[in-house]
Formats: sequence, C-alpha cells, structure tokens
Amino acid sequence: MTDLLLLPGDGIGPEVTAQVRRVAEALTPALTLEERPFGGISYDQLGTPLADETLAAAKAAKAVLMGAVGGPQWAGVPRDKRPEAGLLALRAGMNVFANLRPALCFQPLADASTLKREVVEGLDLMIVRELTGGVYFGSPRFIEDLPGGGKRAVDTQVYTTAEIERVSRVAFELARGRRNKVASAEKSNVMDSGLLWREVVTDLHKRDYADVELTHILADNAAMQIVKDPKQFDVLLTDNLFGDILSDAAAQLTGSLGMLPSAALGVAGTPGLYEPIHGSAPDIAGKGVANPLAAILSFEMALRWSLGRAAEADKLYAAVNAALEKGARTRDLGGSLSTVQMGDAVLAEL
Ligand code: IPM
Ligand code: MG
Repeated sequence: MTDLLLLPGDGIGPEVTAQVRRVAEALTPALTLEERPFGGISYDQLGTPLADETLAAAKAAKAVLMGAVGGPQWAGVPRDKRPEAGLLALRAGMNVFANLRPALCFQPLADASTLKREVVEGLDLMIVRELTGGVYFGSPRFIEDLPGGGKRAVDTQVYTTAEIERVSRVAFELARGRRNKVASAEKSNVMDSGLLWREVVTDLHKRDYADVELTHILADNAAMQIVKDPKQFDVLLTDNLFGDILSDAAAQLTGSLGMLPSAALGVAGTPGLYEPIHGSAPDIAGKGVANPLAAILSFEMALRWSLGRAAEADKLYAAVNAALEKGARTRDLGGSLSTVQMGDAVLAEL
C-alpha cells in the first residue's frame, strides 16, 4: 500500500514537490511514495485532469500530497477539463470536506509581512474551510444567451444541515486542542445559506460544544478583522468561497503565500489531501526560485494528520524554523535562495 501519493501537477508544483520527496527520503525512508500526473499535465497526457486510476490511487493511499495545478496554457480548455476542475473532482472524490488552513507566523519572518510586526508576531490562526460544497459545487450552473442579446450566468450557493454540521464539528474539536475559540463567518444578513449556516453552528454548539467559546461574524467584517487584528482569532470556520478568500488574506499575514500549507480531511480513517495554498505561479515556473516550504509544511501536516508520525512532524517543523532562523530565504521572502537551496537548508537542519 502506498503511504504517500505525490501529485506534482503544473507550474511550480513539480519543483516544490521534488523537495518534499528529498525531505521524505531523508526523514521517513520507510514511507512508500508513488507519483502520478494530475491537472494540466494529466490533461495533456491522458485527456483528463484527473484520470480514474489517479483518483483510485488517491483513495487507496494513506495521504495525498499535491503541488499545484493550472496555468495559462489551459485557459482555452473546456471548463470541465480544466486543471482546476480536476482539483475540485479530487476533493469531492476523496470526500475531504474540512480544509485546515493554518496561518502561522514563524518568528524569524515577523518582519517579512506587509503588516506591522506587532500585528502578526506570534500569530497562530486556523481557518477551517468547508471544501466540498457551496457555490463551488452547487447546481444549476450555466451561462445562457438571452433573447435580446447579452447573456445570463448562474452559480448556486447551496448547503445542507449535514454538510455544515460535519465541518463545524472539525472546527470545534480543533479549538478544544488550541485556545478553545471558534469564530464562524458567513453572510447571514443577505444569504439564506448564511442564515442556515448560523443556525446549524449555533445548534451544534449548544448540543455538543458549549464549553467552546463561539462567536458569529459576517464574512466581510472577518476580512477586515483579519488584517486589523488577526490575533483575536483562534479557529475561523467558514464556507468554501469565503474560506478561499479569507485564507489568501490570512496567508499574507505570514509574509508569503509560499509559506502556507493546508490539509483537507474527510471522515476518520480515510486519506487526507495535503496541498500548499499557493497556486502554480506560471510567472516563475521552471526558474527554480519557488519557495518549497509550503509544500514541505504540507508534508509535515500529512505526517501529523494521516501518517501517524507526529514525532517526525515535530522534527520537520523545527528544521524549517531553524533554517529560517539562520536566514534561509527564497525570493518571495526577500532572499536569493533557489528552490533546491531552500530544500538543502531544511535537509541540513534534519
Ligand atoms: C485554493 C485555490 C483553488 C480554490 C483553485 C485553484 C480551484 O484557489 O485552493 O485556494 O479556489 O479552491
Ligand atoms: Mg484560493
């Protein structure tokens, strides 16, 4: 059985996942690794961004680590064959409904953020983003021609009680192991799905998690609070679309999108999907300058959450921190190390 399935994907994906492979081979040589094409490259080779065999391999592995998908060369491909469609199909196919997106400010990087040091220093925020529902998957969705000219486009935002409840449980459980606070963000002032979201979170809290401090916040206000005073948050629970946006904002608090890992989890005992939050970064792809730390830290999360190797995860986290402390910086962090050299820096600490 494969422990870790690597899906390097497109753009900088293969460059950063190559560093994960090096780290895995050094830190956990007993892990079995497998690699498959995914995203645009899979479309080019196999005619689909997510082949059936790839999804089957993902479900059969203990954990899946993805690099990044997409790029301008696939902009003209039909929507359902786009690299991003492959990613959504992978998330849905693996049923990984809870996306953990930590925004952690590494001490040596407190000055790398565009925000003031005192705002971000010591930041430890966990965004829990619902990942397999909402407007990303709702139907109907279409673009139609209007008789009088022009067009009409429709997307559907849809959530059920069960979908909201299962991801909320993850948020409450996580909070208990942290600072015991959950802020739930929606737009209950204008959206029915937001109203239901607030009701379900409130009910679940009353029933099973009354010991956790719960606040409700409108998603637009959450965006403002994230840049104003991010340390007020512990766990921030939100839906698929708001989570996409809020997690990019939170990423910048930490200095660079190139630092942030994520874990997508489903029901207990099924494989998790780990991915850096950054995209395929076509502008720097192939140049060997991408920051591999988000991918390496995604592997750290995989060790912790899916592979039962918390001790190795601690070791890897410490190695990343030590490398940063010694001044290792890729370009996004204001330094000049290449992707491979940043890999070297982490390996040296291991
Ligand atoms: C993310 C990305 C994806 C998303 C894209 C690539 C489909 O932005 O993981 O945040 O919107 O979920
Ligand atoms: Mg995003």
